[in-house]
Amino acid sequence: MLLNKLLASLSAFSLVAANTITFVSLDEHNRTIFSKHKIKCTNDDHGICNDVSLADIAPVDVPGLAQINVELPSGWEGNFYSVPGGTPDRTGMLAEIRSQGFENGSYYDVSALENPNDNVGVKQFWPAHDPNAEVSGCIQFPCPYTYYHPNDLQTKPATWSDKFYCTLGNADLSKNPHLAQWHMVYDHETKKWAPLSA
Ligand SMILES: *[C@@H]1O[C@H](CO)[C@@H](O)[C@H](O)[C@H]1NC(C)=O
Ligand SMILES: *[C@@H]1O[C@H](CO)[C@@H](O)[C@H](O)[C@H]1NC(C)=O
Repeated sequence: MLLNKLLASLSAFSLVAANTITFVSLDEHNRTIFSKHKIKCTNDDHGICNDVSLADIAPVDVPGLAQINVELPSGWEGNFYSVPGGTPDRTGMLAEIRSQGFENGSYYDVSALENPNDNVGVKQFWPAHDPNAEVSGCIQFPCPYTYYHPNDLQTKPATWSDKFYCTLGNADLSKNPHLAQWHMVYDHETKKWAPLSA
């Protein structure tokens, strides 16, 4: 009896979402985050797409200057973008993720391929708890750390972190200087990314 209970709670535990993206709003504008899962096909040969195991993550509201966690199941692959609160779904600057992919690593980038003119949405995207991780995206677009063309090699090395940060919008540092901790900058001396201020 006890063992059954233990097993039941273990299997329930294994279904718990494996990844978290914390969306960090840097301005006062309300937004909704939409996602599109990648269609994964197991039977490309015959043009038939068999794998429908992934689903879009439900839209999430991120109020101005708030931080909201979004959970993704292990192995989820797709992208996230924001629209101004109360406006319809339309694609934007994309935070793309392939979680628990090759060798269980997760791959991520910011892509301007679908809407390079979105300057008020997704900005920077990076793994938490991974001091060597690179940061994708820009504080202000364009910058060299975003994927602009299908042949750009902007996909960052894999991370084994299961927690990510994604910033949204444009911080007014004169009004909110503490938000500089969410502006990630590359230090050419240490060759590492670090917050503009701690
Ligand atoms: C932003 O969202 C909050 C609730 O999350 C709401 O109270 C507020 O009115 C919204 N602001 C605008 C400008 O829509
Ligand atoms: C893969 O990564 C996930 C999330 O970090 C972890 O829960 C799982 O145990 C890992 N699997 C293997 C085979 O390492």
